[in-house]
Amino acid sequence: MTKYTASALAHSNIALVKYWGKRDSRLNLPAVGSISLTLDALRTKTTVTFSKEIGTDFFRINGKSVSPAQFDRLTRFVDIVRKKFDNNLRIEVESENNFPTGAGLASSASGFAALTEAIDNALSLGLSAREKSVWARQGSGSAARSVFGGIVEMHHGISFDGKDDYAEQLFDENYWDLRLLVLVTSEAKKTIGSTEGMNRTSLTSPYFQIWTESSEVDLAEMRSALRDKDFQKLGEISERSCLKMHGLAMSADPGILYWNAATVRLIHKIRALRTSGIPAFFTIDAGPQVKVLCLPDSIEGLFNEFRSEPGVKKVIQSKLGSGTHTLRKNQ
Ligand code: PMV
Repeated sequence: MTKYTASALAHSNIALVKYWGKRDSRLNLPAVGSISLTLDALRTKTTVTFSKEIGTDFFRINGKSVSPAQFDRLTRFVDIVRKKFDNNLRIEVESENNFPTGAGLASSASGFAALTEAIDNALSLGLSAREKSVWARQGSGSAARSVFGGIVEMHHGISFDGKDDYAEQLFDENYWDLRLLVLVTSEAKKTIGSTEGMNRTSLTSPYFQIWTESSEVDLAEMRSALRDKDFQKLGEISERSCLKMHGLAMSADPGILYWNAATVRLIHKIRALRTSGIPAFFTIDAGPQVKVLCLPDSIEGLFNEFRSEPGVKKVIQSKLGSGTHTLRKNQ
C-alpha cells in the first residue's frame, strides 16, 4: 500500500516587532506586520505519513497524543490542505520539540512551519517558500516567519483572502551575528493562548487602533536599524514593541498578564546591566520567559550572570537559525 511520508525540521522564532491581533480570525490574518529572528537553538522535527491504511488522523507531540483542543486545531489545518489539493488521505504526525511546548517559546511557530514543510514534501506539492509561509500562517501567525532563516518580516495584507499576508526573508542568518539568551522562568503551559488573548484584546482594548498605527513606525525603524546594523536602535525598538504589546494585552477586559515575578525582576536586571555598559535588551512573547538580545562579545558574561539568577530555571543560548528544510522523504 502506498505511503506518502516525509520528515522536516523548523526553528522557532522571536519577534523583535511584535504581532498581536488579527484582521480576520477565520483565515488567521494578522492586523499588524512583524519582524523576527529565527532561532537556531529551538527546533521542531516532524514526520508525517499519509496513507489509505490510516483510519483516523493521529498526532503525537513529544511522544504523547495531543489534547482534544490541539487535535481540532491540527485537523482543521490539515483539512485546509486536503481540500485545496483534493486529497482525502488520513495523516499520522510525530513531532518533537527540543524545548518546552506551549510555554511562550513559539512552539506553534516551529510546529506549523515543520508540518507545512513535511506535508509539502510528502505529497510533492511543490510549494514555493512564500506559499509555504501562507499555508503555515493558517496554523499559527508566527509560523509563517519560521519558514525562513535569519531575519524575517511578516506582512499584513489587505486582500480579503489573505494572499498578501506572507512572510519573507529580510537578511539571511549570516548577515549579522546576533545572539539571544532564553531565560526560562516557568515550563508550565500558558493559561491564555495567543489566539484567545488576541481576540479578547482586539475586541476590548481601548488602545487597539493606536497599536496598529504605531506598529508601522516600529517596522520602518526596525528595517533601518537592521540595514545599518545599529544594535542599540534594534534593542530600543524591540523593548518598545514588547512593552507596547504587553501593555495592550493588559488593557484588554479582563486584562491579560503573561508575566510572573521573575519576568519583572529580569526586565529590571537587564536595564541595570545596560546602565553599567553591557549592551543587552529584552523581549518577551505571550508567556513569562525573557529573551535577552545581545552580541557575541557579551553572551558568555550574560550567560554566567543569569545562570545563577533566582527564578531562572534554564538558560538557552541561540544564534540565528536557518529556514525549514526536509530531512527525509520516502514513498
Ligand atoms: O503565532 P501566534 O498565534 O502564536 O502568535 C504569536 C504572538 C507573539 O509571539 C506574542 C508575538 C509574535 O509576533 O510572535
